[in-house]
Amino acid sequence: MTNGYVFREYIGAQFKSVQFSDVPVNAGLSFHFILAFAIDYMAATQSRPKPTPANGVFAPFWDAATLSPAAAAATKKAHPNLSIMVGLGGDTVQNTGVNATFAPTSVDTWVANAVSSLSAMINQYGLDGVDVDYEHFAADVDTFVECTGRLLTQLKARFPRMSTSIAPFERPEIQKYYRALWAKYSGVIDYVNFQFYGYGANTNVDYYVGFYNLQLSNYPGSGSKLLASFKTGDVTGLLSPEQGISGAKELQRQGKLPGLFIWSADSSKEAAYKFDYETRAQQIVANH
Ligand SMILES: *[C@@H]1O[C@H](CO)[C@@H](O)[C@H](O)[C@H]1NC(C)=O
Ligand SMILES: *[C@@H]1O[C@H](CO)[C@@H](O)[C@H](O)[C@H]1NC(C)=O
Repeated sequence: MTNGYVFREYIGAQFKSVQFSDVPVNAGLSFHFILAFAIDYMAATQSRPKPTPANGVFAPFWDAATLSPAAAAATKKAHPNLSIMVGLGGDTVQNTGVNATFAPTSVDTWVANAVSSLSAMINQYGLDGVDVDYEHFAADVDTFVECTGRLLTQLKARFPRMSTSIAPFERPEIQKYYRALWAKYSGVIDYVNFQFYGYGANTNVDYYVGFYNLQLSNYPGSGSKLLASFKTGDVTGLLSPEQGISGAKELQRQGKLPGLFIWSADSSKEAAYKFDYETRAQQIVANH
């Protein structure tokens, strides 16, 4: 068993050919990769110039040529404490500039399609969980709550050990969807992957802790589930990785750090510092 604390990292959204094995893994904690992203869209083809919503039929839109079922199996074999999740939605459909919009035709058909397509993906890739990560919505709050709440409930019934999370960020039109989902379905949500890297470059330690406490109140009862986070790569105008590390240390000092995640392995691979922040972040979590 690990120490019960978690480190997670998104991987594969930016098509930088980053491999699971590029990322250092600390054996003293629970390590989760999150494939970014599975999307319920049909890719563009000659006769379909733009990606089109697929009503809950999910397909891999991450760098699946690099992050394949064989690569997933090999990395899990190399690291028995490691899990692999899949993020659902994300910002845009690959590099097309088309928003990955939550656009169900009906609750019942969306849930049925999502449960069946994701169950197949979970079996094919040996996945251990899902992360609800929609950032654009063509449906109302109630529809989102019922679709994703029932999806998580049904997946947990089929795959009892699977881990679930949601990934909100600080914008009123986003928070209203996720807070409503949390209010009704927090019983089937294991982690809140709050995107603290959406905050600005002025986020010092005091502000970071203040934002964390604000999200604790937005997601009542999330004390053991609310993960801190930062991003690597281009952070112009945004919270830097150093600020993220400092914030996480202070949260841990206050007994408030169930875990930490980074967006993203792709960006770290391209940066001069490579995977230093992954190593440092995991040292914090492992030294709990
Ligand atoms: C899993 O994590 C625990 C620490 O909690 C460690 O002792 C153990 O060696 C790890 N297992 C493997 C196979 O890495
Ligand atoms: C994508 O979403 C953003 C914000 O959610 C919105 O401002 C923008 O207009 C959308 N783009 C398209 C092409 O719909």
